[in-house]
Amino acid sequence: MTPALPWWSGTVIYQLIVRSYSDGNGDGIGDFKGLAARLPYLRWLGVNTLWLTPIYPSPLRDGGYDITDFTGIHPDLGDLASFHRFLTAAHSQGMRVILDLVLNHTSDLHPWFQRARWAPKGSSERDVYVWSDDPKRYAEAPVLFRHFEASNWEWDPVAEQYYLHRFLRHQPDLNYENPWVQDTMLEVVDFWLDRGVDGFRLDAVPFLFESEGSRCEGLPETHTFLKRLRERVDRHGRDVLLLGEAIQPVQEAAPYLADDELHGAFNFVLTAHLFAAIASGRIQQLGECLMEAEQAVCGPRWALPLRNHDELWLGDGHLISDEVIQTIRVGLPQGQGHWLNWGINRRLAPLLNGDPRSNRLLHGLLYSLPGMPCLYYGDELGMGDWPGLRDRDPNRTPMAWTPARNGGFSTAPDPLLVLPPITAPGYDYRVVNVEVQKQLPGSLLNWHRRMLTCRRLLPALRHGSFRLLHSPHPGVLVYLRCTEAMTVLVAANVTAAGASLSLDLSEWAGERTREVMWGCEFPPAAAEWFVNLPPYGFNWWLIGEVEPAATPA
Ligand code: GLC
Ligand code: CA
Repeated sequence: MTPALPWWSGTVIYQLIVRSYSDGNGDGIGDFKGLAARLPYLRWLGVNTLWLTPIYPSPLRDGGYDITDFTGIHPDLGDLASFHRFLTAAHSQGMRVILDLVLNHTSDLHPWFQRARWAPKGSSERDVYVWSDDPKRYAEAPVLFRHFEASNWEWDPVAEQYYLHRFLRHQPDLNYENPWVQDTMLEVVDFWLDRGVDGFRLDAVPFLFESEGSRCEGLPETHTFLKRLRERVDRHGRDVLLLGEAIQPVQEAAPYLADDELHGAFNFVLTAHLFAAIASGRIQQLGECLMEAEQAVCGPRWALPLRNHDELWLGDGHLISDEVIQTIRVGLPQGQGHWLNWGINRRLAPLLNGDPRSNRLLHGLLYSLPGMPCLYYGDELGMGDWPGLRDRDPNRTPMAWTPARNGGFSTAPDPLLVLPPITAPGYDYRVVNVEVQKQLPGSLLNWHRRMLTCRRLLPALRHGSFRLLHSPHPGVLVYLRCTEAMTVLVAANVTAAGASLSLDLSEWAGERTREVMWGCEFPPAAAEWFVNLPPYGFNWWLIGEVEPAATPA
């Protein structure tokens, strides 16, 4: 008998920011009460896992990734009781919940840091963070938030030493050489697992340890700690998802997926290559990247995002080549401006100039490639952004629910809102919102729902094997997803022109082929099987006599 698959195999992850999602008490800030009331929508949409960006007490200098208490709930969002009510409701509606867990650093207002800076040099309290008398240590570690910080070190006049911060100066790095730090963070993991959460998105995992003469990313000690973390999680005796955020080339991200380490990791290289494919109209490098990821680790363990709450991270030439970065910058409609740190600070729809065709194509790939697709809240509507807001706030504005005031996000007066709802031309919440799109059969929202329904009915797309087929067209990616019982063929045209091509399906000669979305029959498979794809067109076909689990309504 084949072992049961873990719950997260092939799951569709929906990432959301609680404070921007839905306001349940009318104070202008999204909260757990509001989110709980939106669960039926998420169930209707067809996502299975909710990833919540940090929900902990925080001064919010970095969107909550600067934490002052790892076992509390930010008072704006509710309390442990309202979190519990939300979690129970999510579970009862068949959804899993994973929390963002920030292991690498705390807020500078965390009591541990305040204690450390006032404690004597060399004391155990001081040792909870990484201090130095010399700000030139670890000089090869890149400054990640280069638009906000010039160095990874900050002078602390109280401690009279420099402290390390790989992110903002308000986020001192914890010292993982210190066993107390390791033990205490593992207790945090226990705390949330005891409260029933289903897993964690592990923020910034590569940076836990430092070493002179390296980029200070993914060091052996970091992997040793992550194995400890895995072992700790396994003690809970149930399937928990550990999903790592390592913005690294595939070969450097893959080690996090060793059998005794994390279950999943984001494939940010693939994200970049998806955009590069659209930008260049060519699929060769995308295909190579897929093969590399597949060979490194079996496909379903990669999480696949298009966009998230950060800038579209392209990096300093380490993640993807300068040439690919250039392709994206020059080739994407909105690739030139809006540069923040090492990436492009725009939401998906505006990044594609509002073109629904490329938007659907990218999601069509995401939903059929091996892995866990990650949908960023609002992208199911093609929601816009507000360039000009500070830092990454352009991508974090309130979800648009209805054409009513504030997009139905909150009843509070405008000045109290967490961020302004989108009223930009083409993206105005009076048009781009859940209520309106639900009623329009051809809307992006209804399309997502249908795609997710099809995906649910086709096990091959969730955990089937992956095989790239030879494509006679430089702009059309062709692949198969197969289980023993089912073969799904995908062809995707990344160019802005129509594509006409013939595929060699002699392996299945004479078998029935049916397009998945609407069930329409195509000519039987043959050595020369012709397909026409419109600009940015794509299709999924079932090959053979298999019946999907049921017909999508
Ligand atoms: C991750 C988060 C980002 C945050 C950073 C520091 O990269 O995605 O939003 O600013 O870590 O915690
Ligand atoms: Ca509220």
